Amino acid sequence: MLDINNSIITDCKLITLPRIFSDTGSLTFAQNQEHIPFEIKRVYYLYDIPAGESRGGHVHKSLIQMVIAASGSFDIILKDGYNEKNIFLNQPDLGVLIPPGIWREIANFSSGGICLVLASELYHEGDYIRDYSDFTDFKQR
Ligand code: TYD
Repeated sequence: MLDINNSIITDCKLITLPRIFSDTGSLTFAQNQEHIPFEIKRVYYLYDIPAGESRGGHVHKSLIQMVIAASGSFDIILKDGYNEKNIFLNQPDLGVLIPPGIWREIANFSSGGICLVLASELYHEGDYIRDYSDFTDFKQR
């Protein structure tokens, strides 16, 4: 797996998850290994985000994650210290896979937007870099 120093924006992948359509609505699922290339150890979600607020300005040293717009829409801004990419997510059957070492922010939540995150690690504050200049210093090493 890519390490924090070497990961770049193009290592972030858009993954289409299965969607079962029926007259009574849709169902999407994600299974370890088949759709998610890591074992999911933790799930969290961001919701009730006030208009204009952004979340998640940080990078992980070893955690891999998949970010899904479970409801509504938002932008994910990805940065590797050299390049950046903005992905507009608005489908519950689409996930963005983010390896360690990629700075990510989540912004422009629609009303009722829910950001679901599937994570490869338990919560551990020591795995975060929350200061952008610390991150760019790290990438240049
Ligand atoms: P934080 O990572 O700052 O959220 P964001 O980057 O989206 O703005 O997390 C907010 C608070 O929640 C912080 O005190 C840490 C805590 N937290 C947990 O206790 N467990 C978790 O799984 C997560 C993601 C956060």
